[in-house]
Amino acid sequence: MITIHAHVAAARQRLRAAGIPADEAEIDARVLAEHLLGWDAARFFSSANQEEPEGFAADYERLVARRAAREPVAYVVGRQEFWDLSFEVSPAVLIPRPETELIVETSLELFPDRVVEVTIADVCTGSGCLAVALACERPQARLTAIDISGAALDVARLNAVRHGVGDRVHFVRANILDRVTDCFDLIVANPPYVPDGERASLQPEVRDHEPALALLGGVDGLTVVRRLVEQAPSRLNDRGVLIFEFGIAQVEPIAGLISASEGLTMIDVRRDLQGIPRTVIARRTRVS
Ligand SMILES: C[S@@+](CC[C@H](N)C(=O)[O-])C[C@H]1O[C@@H](n2cnc3c(N)ncnc32)[C@H](O)[C@@H]1O
Repeated sequence: MITIHAHVAAARQRLRAAGIPADEAEIDARVLAEHLLGWDAARFFSSANQEEPEGFAADYERLVARRAAREPVAYVVGRQEFWDLSFEVSPAVLIPRPETELIVETSLELFPDRVVEVTIADVCTGSGCLAVALACERPQARLTAIDISGAALDVARLNAVRHGVGDRVHFVRANILDRVTDCFDLIVANPPYVPDGERASLQPEVRDHEPALALLGGVDGLTVVRRLVEQAPSRLNDRGVLIFEFGIAQVEPIAGLISASEGLTMIDVRRDLQGIPRTVIARRTRVS
């Protein structure tokens, strides 16, 4: 008899041999089996000593081979958790990262009232993770989710409907804020910010599988950010707030861009759980 557990142990070794770190290989081998079986972690730990169901070996092999080719596990299973919500993901969208939750956390802190109507734009929405999480947390909010990629917007739309907020999120295909004429109380963004020249040094999961459009931000990584900082003041209500994520070692150029902007005043820079400056908060400068 071959148990599920034996298959998972063999997959773990294979993933390690493919260059995946041991702790990740262990989790991924198990997650792929759970996905195939429709089990949660508790069921896996109580039942993995059972004999493999019919057809399991061949189906599991196909999933493990994809992961061994360094495809991210989130694309293999088609979903990723963000802000305790499950998001559908495909290779058309960036896989939501834990550090991006800092934008949600900061937004909720600055707009603490659940019942106040607030207007929010999520620029570079990708999977829609920011727009959907904010819509779930602020039931009176109306959102505009913008992306230049039609394929990404299809995924974002699906996620909004799945989480029951499709009627409050308006989707726009646009280059940053080009085709957006409304003004907002809050603009959030996780723009592409990796300098083009750093692409080769990214890990294979990112470099070879996630969309370049979602990652690369031009020679210095700041092409989209620069335009966002330029456009945001005219799309913010009086005292409106802009919150966006940036990359490692970009805090100084970002602070420079904001202090050079007549329309924005720097409020704060927040660090992620690893202590890396990640998120900037700026407010529309009061017009006197
Ligand atoms: C880093 S991903 C962020 C996705 C999602 N907000 C997240 O945090 O996981 C950046 C997104 O920006 C989109 N994008 C790239 N350039 C853009 C532009 N000029 N205007 C609008 N969206 C753009 C990409 O298609 C991608 O979906």
